[in-house]
Amino acid sequence: MKKTYLVTGGAGFIGSNFIHYMLQKYQDISIINVDKLTYAGNMENLAEFENDPRHCFVHADICDKDAMKKVMAEHNIDYIVNFAAESHVDRSISNPEIFVQTNVLGTVSLLNCAKQAWQTGEDTFKEGVKYLQVSTDEVYGSLGAEGYFEETTPICPHSPYSSSKASADLFVKAYFDTYKFPVNITRCSNNYGPFQFPEKLIPLIMNNTLQHKELPVYGDGMQVRDWLFVEDHCKAIDMVLNNGRLGEVYNIGGHNERPNIFIVKTIIEYIRQNVDSSVSEDLIHHVTDRKGHDRRYGIDPAKIKAELGWFPETPFEVGIKKTLKWYLDHKDWMAHVTSGSYQEYYKKMYGDQ
Ligand code: NAD
Ligand code: DAU
Repeated sequence: MKKTYLVTGGAGFIGSNFIHYMLQKYQDISIINVDKLTYAGNMENLAEFENDPRHCFVHADICDKDAMKKVMAEHNIDYIVNFAAESHVDRSISNPEIFVQTNVLGTVSLLNCAKQAWQTGEDTFKEGVKYLQVSTDEVYGSLGAEGYFEETTPICPHSPYSSSKASADLFVKAYFDTYKFPVNITRCSNNYGPFQFPEKLIPLIMNNTLQHKELPVYGDGMQVRDWLFVEDHCKAIDMVLNNGRLGEVYNIGGHNERPNIFIVKTIIEYIRQNVDSSVSEDLIHHVTDRKGHDRRYGIDPAKIKAELGWFPETPFEVGIKKTLKWYLDHKDWMAHVTSGSYQEYYKKMYGDQ
């Protein structure tokens, strides 16, 4: 049976990679992509599917109940994958409210529209439907030098961003516990790969190095993130949609932990060897640390491995080269994003929708 997916935030980094992954993998699916097109939403990320009838773009805010009800009424949705969010920790520190608006209220609004559309009776829903909330390892807080986040690790977020994501997760869980509404939550570590907005560490450092600009390293640069190649994340989401047990949380990531300073030096070295032999570590500038900065994230992916057979296929050394090469091969994309002209592309293609 042909499946229809409602993907929210599909013009952002992971959402657009997910749409690429799914439309390449499956011929017989439809994707309804709802995106508000904030600064982080870029329709150029989906240029490949401009004329593909399997991809339908709807310019809307997930907080807009009427718009979301209309989407649910017009399309026979089987799966919802909610990527739509404000995703940048630094922005959440300077402006928390929009994070509550989109990440918490937007999620509840979406849950409610889906519940109304899918409900067939008291505690029963259309067969085979599922809502998947794309969450983050940041909801668990910060680790010391030892140990990993498991699905049973208590939620203990620190930033306004991670607090908003944790809050959304609790609402998703409440919909399962209260209404038996069919859900999964995935909590994933730091993604990297094509189409990431250059406010995030890897594309930002890449871009600055190419331009001989200072490389801002927060604090001592010894904070650790568990890097996951975005395609591996997309594959995991597909597996959880198909075979995840209802009501369960799945952690995604694992064993690609690197300190930030290592990432920065790796990027400099790649550019020095492949593009510009004049760049050096002199560009590194240690700047004031992020407020409340989490020290270490590390995922234990034992559950998703044991239940669904997923594992992170791409070693960091392979994924980072692929990623940096992609940015070098797509300098136009980076130029449009950094100049803001990518927003014109949407108007040209889609008018005033
Ligand atoms: P992103 O910022 O690149 O993209 C977010 C997308 O959501 C954009 O296209 C934006 O226009 C859209 N959006 C924002 N507010 C909206 C609203 N109110 N209505 C509709 N669309 C809206 O984010 P990303 O890095 O692709 O992250 C996607 C999801 O994955 C987020 O939920 C994030 O919390 C989660 N996540 C990200 C990472 C990571 O490393 N990037 C890791 C774990 C989890
Ligand atoms: O762990 C998953 C999370 O990963 C996601 O939930 C978030 O949406 C995503 O943005 C990401 O959060 P981080 O805060 O870890 O990502 P960011 O790229 O902002 O920063 C990575 C690390 O690098 C972090 O320790 C802060 C540091 N950093 C970041 C920037 C932008 C710097 O040292 N300098 C910088 O300029």
